[in-house]
Amino acid sequence: MTETVVAVDGPAGSGKSSVSKAAAKRLGFDYLDTGAAYRALSWYVLDGNIDSTDAAAVVASLPGFRYTIGTDPFGYHVRVGETDVTDSIREPRVTAVVSNIARVPEVRSHVTGIFRDIIRDSVAPGIVVEGRDITTVVAPDATARILLTASEEARMSRRSAELASESASEVASALQKRDRADSRVVDFMTAAAGVTTVDSTTLNFDETVDAVLDVIRTSQKT
Ligand code: CDP
Ligand code: CDP
Repeated sequence: MTETVVAVDGPAGSGKSSVSKAAAKRLGFDYLDTGAAYRALSWYVLDGNIDSTDAAAVVASLPGFRYTIGTDPFGYHVRVGETDVTDSIREPRVTAVVSNIARVPEVRSHVTGIFRDIIRDSVAPGIVVEGRDITTVVAPDATARILLTASEEARMSRRSAELASESASEVASALQKRDRADSRVVDFMTAAAGVTTVDSTTLNFDETVDAVLDVIRTSQKT
């Protein structure tokens, strides 16, 4: 069992994945991207021509869904069965359906069980786990609990910079729609009791990593 569990939640584009991965590298910790599990199931559902809005069909697909998410921050990869889906789960067609998948309670309890097993089995000195409900549901007892936020404007411009093939307005409306849908399922816009907010709006990437590392170090001392 790992000693230090760091839980990071926040909306799309706040910097959760990149900042959590960088913090894990700096600390020699494992890194778990929980959104990748919801994306991998979305990829699997699309691959099987299953209607993502049909919750019963999505639940019926769960027993055949086999995926691996690497927890080494230097060798991050995601596989469904034998297929490497590390890049394909970021495609807009997957992003467009992931909220349909993530709102199904049976899906959430299935993947939450797997996340807890991964946290329990980690042998690294610590693990950084990021998503939407890590501070509240997956690991409410984590050593450090962080809500990483940024203004909607900052988040959209970061995402637009990454998705150069799409127009800024397409990126903005897809992101707003997804945050709205996801917010109906879990609250990742307000910090729960005991959770420290790191607002990255005016911070550059390195400053955000440093701010997260400060919260981790402070919580390890208490
Ligand atoms: O990186 P980005 O913020 O765009 O999204 P992500 O972390 O890859 O998560 C993809 C989707 O998975 C989210 O839009 C949520 O629908 C879902 N998700 C969730 O419901 N709970 C989590 N702990 C993580 C992700
Ligand atoms: O996982 P999430 O959707 O919260 O965000 P991300 O994919 O880690 O970050 C989105 C983009 O914002 C990445 O290209 C980061 O490098 C960038 N970023 C930034 O420009 N400034 C920050 N303070 C934090 C992240």
